[in-house]
Amino acid sequence: MPDSLQTLKSSIESLFEGEANANPTEARRTFFDFRAALTRGDIRAADKINGRWTVNAWVKQGILFGFRLGELQKMSDGDVLSFIDKDTFPARRLTLADRVRLVPGGSSIREGAYVAPSVVCMPPMFINVGAYVDEGSMIDSHALVGSCAQVGKRVHLSAAAQIGGVLEPVNAAPVIIEDDVLIGGNCGVYEGTLVRARAVLGAGTILTRSTPLYDLVNGEIYRASADQPLEVPENAVVVPGSRAVNKGKGAEWDLSLYTPVIVKYRDEKTERGIELEDWLR
Ligand SMILES: CC(C)(COP(=O)(O)OP(=O)(O)OC[C@H]1O[C@@H](n2cnc3c(N)ncnc32)[C@H](O)[C@@H]1OP(=O)(O)O)[C@@H](O)C(=O)NCCC(=O)NCCS
Repeated sequence: MPDSLQTLKSSIESLFEGEANANPTEARRTFFDFRAALTRGDIRAADKINGRWTVNAWVKQGILFGFRLGELQKMSDGDVLSFIDKDTFPARRLTLADRVRLVPGGSSIREGAYVAPSVVCMPPMFINVGAYVDEGSMIDSHALVGSCAQVGKRVHLSAAAQIGGVLEPVNAAPVIIEDDVLIGGNCGVYEGTLVRARAVLGAGTILTRSTPLYDLVNGEIYRASADQPLEVPENAVVVPGSRAVNKGKGAEWDLSLYTPVIVKYRDEKTERGIELEDWLR
């Protein structure tokens, strides 16, 4: 980490710990430097180092500090619509130089979110603070990229897909979607779930820390543990399924519970089915 970021890290850590004599003007200046570094993508809530994702707790501390520091402010644009939020996290004002396509209609990207050039945002969608959206990704209508979520390159986040935010505790992993993943319409990926490269989530799949993931191909059941999130393997094709409930009255009542199922690993048929419409870009 360059010296300037190391200094920023130490300052944020002290402010988060409630540095007694913090000068309010300097605290604000430090926070705005921090937020600008997040928006530029120079710092991230989590980094992949040698294939392993590592949480940068200090980055999450900086975001939480921003909420503590912020004061309510009117953020209206014109006379018709009115918005109120903390002044530390206004909506980003993109410029042509950002090379992000933000199609008109009710979308919002907060300051402190990195959105790479060539990303396409369809309205309405929301990208929250600390999120990182890499090149070539498509964020479709009604999609949410929650706080600190890390979205890789060429990811397709389909209509109404929800990528949950993870801010606290500060050492908890955010949701991570690696490169070339397709998240189908109406999916929900929450609580630090890690979706490895090129995986496909069929429409309506929900993943949380509590959903076991059944792999029909390898005969395994994947679960989150106390210190590891649920992980979807590379190339897995996951669809929403159900499993019988045998506990309690489950069998007598013919109940089943929702469960995600890996039905196959990505093949040519999957590729044809999910081909991105390049000419739309
Ligand atoms: C997952 C998906 C990509 C299909 O992938 P595929 O590789 O073509 O899958 P296949 O058709 O070979 O199906 C494999 C098995 O899974 C089942 N399956 C496929 N999709 C399923 C789904 N969404 N729900 C439940 N089962 C599904 C198939 O019936 C098949 O099982 P079978 O062999 O017992 O019949 C597709 O279902 C999907 O959800 N696409 C995303 C659509 C979407 O959200 N688009 C948004 C654009 S904005």
